[in-house]
Amino acid sequence: MSPAMRVLVTGAAGQVGVDLVDTLRALKPPGADPSFQPDAKPVGDDEFAVFALTRHELDITNRDVLRSAIATTRPEVIVHLAAYTQVDKAESDHVTCFAVNAQATETMSLAAHDVGAHLITISTDYVFDGTKGTGYVEDDVTNPLNVYGASKRAGELLCASDDTIMRVSWVMGVRGKNVLHVIAERAAMGETVRFVDDQVGTVTLASDMARALVTTVRERPGGYWHVANTGTTSWFEVAKYAGSLLGRGEDFATPILTSELEPRPAATRPARSDLDTAKWRGQWAALPSWREGVARLLGERDRRVQT
Ligand SMILES: NC(=O)c1ccc[n+]([C@@H]2O[C@H](COP(=O)([O-])OP(=O)(O)OC[C@H]3O[C@@H](n4cnc5c(N)ncnc54)[C@H](OP(=O)(O)O)[C@@H]3O)[C@@H](O)[C@H]2O)c1
Repeated sequence: MSPAMRVLVTGAAGQVGVDLVDTLRALKPPGADPSFQPDAKPVGDDEFAVFALTRHELDITNRDVLRSAIATTRPEVIVHLAAYTQVDKAESDHVTCFAVNAQATETMSLAAHDVGAHLITISTDYVFDGTKGTGYVEDDVTNPLNVYGASKRAGELLCASDDTIMRVSWVMGVRGKNVLHVIAERAAMGETVRFVDDQVGTVTLASDMARALVTTVRERPGGYWHVANTGTTSWFEVAKYAGSLLGRGEDFATPILTSELEPRPAATRPARSDLDTAKWRGQWAALPSWREGVARLLGERDRRVQT
């Protein structure tokens, strides 16, 4: 039997981190589709030796601690999920956002190379300005509209050319803070919601993304990859569909324009930043449809609320 592959995960307590760590340990994260694995190879019980580091254990902005954590654990692959993800707060917190998303990612890439590890880092659809009018492919021109997007693009550019950069969008996990939980809470309280219909994108379920990451850990492809669940949608469509699954009628969700949002969000978002995943689908299986993923997440949430 070959020895377990040593994989270090940063941001292990984040919404993708918890699902990835479970998946690498051959456990099923809540709400995951057990039959889905993009390379069709089930995860073996002892396939990976996982070093799961939370912010508490490793503050990635501390260069010496970061280098020492990598030198000590000597991973073969690093999945770098730790990030500053508060998109609106970043507008007034530029320095911290860049320290985490750009400078620490560069240190991670350099430290990974020092020990011969392959780095997989995560980026975002917010590197694009949303004016293309159709799905974005990996080599489309970037032009971030907000500080968070600019910091993630800077992080991409500070990586080495053989690192893997996986761009994802609108991430939703059963155990994460995300808009689906807000929608479900409002539905349960008998309230209605208003969501923008003029921001179009692609949803990425954390548990499905974790499966894609396992494939990427095994294959170490290098370069840019767009990964998201299948199908393009708007925030209003997500809210309307979630409302229907939660037993609410047509009047649950009202479509509005971004210009009608009150209070106005600090960060500008791209109008249409859906990720075209054709490159991924040319190599491995497509992620399930976003509707199927949202139904799984809400089903699991419902089960947890009732037990
Ligand atoms: N969420 C989305 O919609 C979305 C969309 C596109 C791309 N992405 C990217 O996907 C990746 C995973 O995102 P996610 O949704 O799992 O985000 P998340 O839930 O916010 O998790 C990020 C984790 O990073 C940790 N972190 C922040 N600063 C750190 C530091 N200085 N040192 C160590 N850890 C630190 C956070 O800890 P604290 O909670 O203690 O701050 C958190 O546990 C990120 O690269 C993100 O940019 C996310």
